[in-house]
Amino acid sequence: MDANLIIKNAAQLVTCSGFRAKHGSEMADLGVIENGAVVVEGGRIQAVGRSQELLQGMDTAGFEILDASGKAVLPGFVDSHTHFVFGGYRAEEYAWRLRGDSYMDIMQRGGGILSTVHATRTADAQDLVASGRRRLDSMLAFGVTTVEGKSGYGLDRETEIKQLEVMQILGGEHPVDIVPTFMGAHAVPPEYRGREEDYIDFMLDTVMPEIAGRRLAEFCDVFCEKNVFSIGQSRRLLQKARQLGFKLKIHADEIAPIGGTELAAELGAVSADHLLQASDRGLAELARKGVVATLLPGTAFSLKEPYGRGREMIDRGCAVALASDFNPGSCFTESIPLIVALATLCMNIGTEEAITALTINGAAAVDRAETIGSIDPGKQADLIVLEFPSYTYIPYHIGVSTVEKVIKRGMVVFDKFNQKGGGHVC
Ligand code: NIG
Ligand code: FE
Repeated sequence: MDANLIIKNAAQLVTCSGFRAKHGSEMADLGVIENGAVVVEGGRIQAVGRSQELLQGMDTAGFEILDASGKAVLPGFVDSHTHFVFGGYRAEEYAWRLRGDSYMDIMQRGGGILSTVHATRTADAQDLVASGRRRLDSMLAFGVTTVEGKSGYGLDRETEIKQLEVMQILGGEHPVDIVPTFMGAHAVPPEYRGREEDYIDFMLDTVMPEIAGRRLAEFCDVFCEKNVFSIGQSRRLLQKARQLGFKLKIHADEIAPIGGTELAAELGAVSADHLLQASDRGLAELARKGVVATLLPGTAFSLKEPYGRGREMIDRGCAVALASDFNPGSCFTESIPLIVALATLCMNIGTEEAITALTINGAAAVDRAETIGSIDPGKQADLIVLEFPSYTYIPYHIGVSTVEKVIKRGMVVFDKFNQKGGGHVC
């Protein structure tokens, strides 16, 4: 599916240029080229520039030509934090939360994550593939070209592996690239209740070595939270994960401020995620160590928790990424426009910063900043074409997707207007 393509006359080519995370004030620089063009060969970006200069005298035989007059072209979005493979839904629990029950109370009563664990354990792998495929189709329509996905709804060997195998199957068949993360330490399963250390030993000694050996996951993540996994338990788990070759992520300081942010910096995690309650010291450490601060405003919104201090994080020099946290409990949305609306309207993050957070910094949060997340020569040609001439329409069209076409490795894989009646995954 690797193609030769020329995109020309883009009203704005929003390059987000760079090969590493952007920190602090760098996040406001989108590297926009007016009347821009991109040359793609074999699915990779070969050249980028102004249309006239780049294409003058060029032999365009063998290239598909896409005229993007009146449209903005950006890198595909990278949704760097999701839990998109799961069985069952929790609409009833959401209704309880709307009536005032808290997320952690429901979890303590054996609902929440554990209810999805039950449904995922009993689900057929084929059904998980089918629902995962539909979810990826939906993400693609929002302009997502790479997604991170976590296990953690099995909490036993078979189901954790089943979830990761489902991602492997989907990665082989779907245009969206999948970055798999092992998150066996998402909750303590009922059969280990009161024996948390034994559960961690089981993960460390039995499950993680097998997953590492079969290369089923690239990252290891842990729900480091009061009444879930403590700092000490998380440290033990992640240290072993690193020895086994996993890169690290942490669900840090989401509900209670217990120091997960500092732990992410101490261990040199690739990202620390959530951070609603992160301390000043924790944020300073993230900035100093270059750990990507991944904010998930959809979750704060859905849980009615205060938003993470995104504005302050950027002002303090952090590299901030934004992601959906798509999951069946705390945040059942894969909507990128919602995330952008929350970031810009509720967190005071600038439009340019939000776009950086969803492109090159999202790529950095999955350790892919050298290959995706910007429109630079040498990178994979994962691009989106907007219906509108400027990236400023992304937040302006509140809660609505402005993405007209999605291009994956130089091929158009989604076209909103290509079929009567709406979008189509090509
Ligand atoms: O990122 N916080 C922990 N894990 C997920 C929620 C998972 C669930 O509720 O099913 C999160 O919010
Ligand atoms: Fe999460």
